[in-house]
Amino acid sequence: MCGIVGYIGDGESLPVLLTGLKALEYRGYDSAGVAIFSRGAVKEKKSLGRINVLEAATKGGDFSGSTGIAHTRWATHGVPSEANAHPHRDCGRRVFVVHNGIIENYRELKEYLIGRGHKFLSETDTESVAHLIEDFLKDGRDFKDALFAALKMIKGAYALALVDSNDPEKLYAARLSSPLVVGVGAGEYFLASDPSALIGRTKDIIYLKDGEVAVVRRDNIEIVNFENVPTPYEIIKLEWNLEEAQKGKYPHFMLKEIFEGPEVVRAAFRGRINAKDGAVKLGGLELIPEKLKGIKRLVIAACGTSYYAGLIGEYFFEEIADIPVEVQFASEFRYRREPFDPGTAVLAVSQSGETADTLAALRKAKENGLLTLGIVNVVGSTIARETDAGIYNHAGPEIGVASTKAFLSQVTCLLLMALYLAKDKTGQSALLRELENIPGKIEKILAQAPLIEKLSEKYQDSQNFLFLGRRYNYPTALEGALKLKEVSYIHAEGCGAGEMKHGPLAMIGPDFPTLAIAPQNGISDKINSNLEEIKARRGPIVAIATENDESLGSLASDLIRVPATLEPLEPLLTVIPLQLFAYYAGVKKGYDVDKPRNLAKSVTVE
Ligand code: AGP
Ligand code: GLU
Repeated sequence: MCGIVGYIGDGESLPVLLTGLKALEYRGYDSAGVAIFSRGAVKEKKSLGRINVLEAATKGGDFSGSTGIAHTRWATHGVPSEANAHPHRDCGRRVFVVHNGIIENYRELKEYLIGRGHKFLSETDTESVAHLIEDFLKDGRDFKDALFAALKMIKGAYALALVDSNDPEKLYAARLSSPLVVGVGAGEYFLASDPSALIGRTKDIIYLKDGEVAVVRRDNIEIVNFENVPTPYEIIKLEWNLEEAQKGKYPHFMLKEIFEGPEVVRAAFRGRINAKDGAVKLGGLELIPEKLKGIKRLVIAACGTSYYAGLIGEYFFEEIADIPVEVQFASEFRYRREPFDPGTAVLAVSQSGETADTLAALRKAKENGLLTLGIVNVVGSTIARETDAGIYNHAGPEIGVASTKAFLSQVTCLLLMALYLAKDKTGQSALLRELENIPGKIEKILAQAPLIEKLSEKYQDSQNFLFLGRRYNYPTALEGALKLKEVSYIHAEGCGAGEMKHGPLAMIGPDFPTLAIAPQNGISDKINSNLEEIKARRGPIVAIATENDESLGSLASDLIRVPATLEPLEPLLTVIPLQLFAYYAGVKKGYDVDKPRNLAKSVTVE
């Protein structure tokens, strides 16, 4: 769940480690620590709270040294505390380790190791790794063999970075189900749980695969599997640059990423459509044409915002590609005992490509012999690499914990995939021509940010909010509710407008406002009558309405106008005011909208 940074090279490791941890802060954490080989021994420093606390703590001691590892912790086993912060070590101060993930059998390991005389200093699962390696070192193994022997006993998900205090010329890394990359520099190498920690240091990245160990020296790297057999690896040049990953002129990553919406939609269809011919080209799917033809049913497995994007995808695949779809929370899919028709394919939608539940759902699909597809933003991420085929979002790094631009990108990619799979291409040209107009139409909505900011301020003291929509805008309403909850902590509920009278209407009154997505389309009269029901109970209404549509004037207390578009593309427009509304609500309440409490950007544990 959290952050790992490692360095070995000709320079000082401490500044690289601390800068790298700061770039990973967005992932959410509760404590941090470093271990550096300095003047003949490994020195460690750990602290509770923010990285600047750790930075201040290192100022006192001599942490000069060119080999080091560092960590930000998001606790899974053991309360957030200095003692439970990483790095963890063995009894003899030889093995130092930082870890992302969960050691599922750590209790048995800990009991076994305590039985063999090891003294534990923390409550964490991670510490068992250090003592287990030490135990194997006592058998006369070298460090690498002791590491392999330990990995064979460990169950769970882990990205590990280790230092052997007997050999400062090496860093060790191992990964299983938790992301870890190697950065290749000139006379230096890096380790990181996420490439954004290395932006500004190197653009050359090696994604370790599950079941791999890396032995990293300052001038070369050895990558092997857990049987110590060398495995091929590819150096990927990062598309991202420092500027992109920084906030630029915006006060928060979230606002920057909302304003990147137009570019993100362009990036999703760039090089993939020919509007004149109505053609869609998805290179990542061209390798398996026969398997795609065999799809009789599609399950979309995802979490959070990606799940809501998937619900919009359901309409695309059913109404454009004529493929029956079921969208499932990945955390539910993975434990269901459902019969699978052989023609079922599973599509994993994930911004980070590392979400544990979505990865587990994908692996379950593969175990059942199903075709697996992916729509993922992070290049080379685990989900991306484990699907049979898929497409990347190319949305660039999404740093804000609350997903915004990724949602737009996912909806666009889902549309493209549905168009690509459709046998009947009728009407595709019109949709694609309108898709090309969407970025400009989003720009028009973004220009209303000051109006939306005022609206958000007007309602910021509300304790509750109801979000309503129908068809393509029903999932959009669900996503809007999630955004408001995530960044302003106001309770919000998304609801199908037609469903409201079956219960939620009971909540409506003067202090329970509704945000209704009510663009002018084939079902406008239906949603307008839903709004009459709300107005009759004196519920305040903020309506998202199409430009020049005057039918809502008497109903809504406030209006936000969006340009007209084709119904399937409405969510790409109607979600923008919802994202801005939530953003301003959180900022007005003084919250850190980029790092909301209790949340992490990439949920890589169950
Ligand atoms: C959305 O704002 C949240 N950050 C969260 O629900 C997120 O969408 C979910 O954890 C899925 O993440 P993924 O797309 O990286 O798999
Ligand atoms: N499970 C480990 C702990 O609780 C690592 C958690 C993380 O990934 O930060 O310390």
